[in-house]
Amino acid sequence: MAVNDEYMVGIDIGTTKVTTLIGNFGKNSTFKIKGYGISECRGMKKGLIVDINEATKSILKSVDSAERSTKTFIDKAFIGITGKHISFINNWSETSINSPNHLIRKIDVDRLLTQANKVNISSSNEIVHTLIKQFVIDDEKGIIDPIGLSARKLAVELLAVYGSSSQISNIINSIKNSKIEVQDIILEALASSEAVLTPEEKESGVILLDIGGGTTDVALYKDKKMIFTYCLPVGGNLITNDISIGLNITFPKAEDIKKKYANVDYNFYENLNKVNMEEIKINHSKTTLNIRLYNIVNSRAREMMMLIKEKIEEYGFMHSAPCGVVITGGTSQLKGLKALTSSIFDLPVRLGLPYEVEGPAEVINNPIYSTVVGLLKYAYQLENFTELEKHDEGIESGGFLDRFRSFISKILKN
Ligand SMILES: Nc1ncnc2c1ncn2[C@@H]1O[C@H](COP(=O)(O)OP(=O)(O)OP(=O)(O)O)[C@@H](O)[C@H]1O
Ligand SMILES: [Mg+2]
Repeated sequence: MAVNDEYMVGIDIGTTKVTTLIGNFGKNSTFKIKGYGISECRGMKKGLIVDINEATKSILKSVDSAERSTKTFIDKAFIGITGKHISFINNWSETSINSPNHLIRKIDVDRLLTQANKVNISSSNEIVHTLIKQFVIDDEKGIIDPIGLSARKLAVELLAVYGSSSQISNIINSIKNSKIEVQDIILEALASSEAVLTPEEKESGVILLDIGGGTTDVALYKDKKMIFTYCLPVGGNLITNDISIGLNITFPKAEDIKKKYANVDYNFYENLNKVNMEEIKINHSKTTLNIRLYNIVNSRAREMMMLIKEKIEEYGFMHSAPCGVVITGGTSQLKGLKALTSSIFDLPVRLGLPYEVEGPAEVINNPIYSTVVGLLKYAYQLENFTELEKHDEGIESGGFLDRFRSFISKILKN
């Protein structure tokens, strides 16, 4: 069976693994996972492609595994993107309304959005998302849908997310090399947020941290909208690497010890007693090794969280997140990290898992799948509302204006 319009496919090319997810939305608007494939990822570093041939091989393996498990042929997919090249810019644009009675029509909104989309970024970059933060009519802020209202002046505030054109091309080419059509690329921070944050958290103010293997994606939400994003090119691999050096063991062994025994809380260090000491070829007592492991894991995790906190403080958001911090991604499972994050941020912290999703327990209960589930949840919103708007009489479809309309519809729906 081929993937038809009934199913959607998302591919998350992470630093450690490529995940391909097939799913659709049921009538009760719950997302249902039909199947998935996962492969170890090679050719990626800190969320970026460093070897396109290796990355393509990893994508092919992951897609092949998803196809076999679902007996489905995959020919198109939504793809995630992240990396430290990602940045954003706030843009403000306004126009006067000269229609009879100063009534705001779709054409006025389209004209304004076209103008607002001309964001001043360098030619080596390109826009990934343009998110509407608010419309303002005359001096009234926080307007969601201005069409049909009367005003002499209409303004819009946008958040344009952009990234390096060459990094974006690398991702697109690796997918094309795998004979898959790219339906759209979606910022991973936005995708993970879509998977794990509740509408209430997004409305009140929340900090999302997707802590992966090579990156930590940050998204800040207020009044239902993402207002800030940042990618720290550091994740759990750094911790593994330091364990490997500090205990003089291989990377895979260090990875195993990290997952099973490491704890950022000193009170739990005795857990390492269960490790077979013959595997750690270093002449130290267990207590010394335990303390060494604790020191490595605690200092690395603390450093990562401090770097993120500094970024958020720079933006002035620390007192705007009553819903606290939601951590997801593979490294969110590091024992003791939740409590450490809470003490550093001085905010409540919860572990974020994909919600309102039906599917295999190993997917919906594991934060490593948040991004790929979110890719499809976000893509569904884009596709669904764009389709609705295409039926709108007299409106040219398929261009970026449809994308804007989809966002307007999405905001309205929320
Ligand atoms: N139980 C666990 N305890 C601690 N760390 C874990 C655990 N499970 C997975 N990890 C870590 O999670 C990381 C992988 O997370 P994830 O799958 O979210 O990353 P990725 O998507 O491949 O990479 P990225 O998003 O950074 O490009 C690895 O560093 C791994 O060691
Ligand atoms: Mg990831």
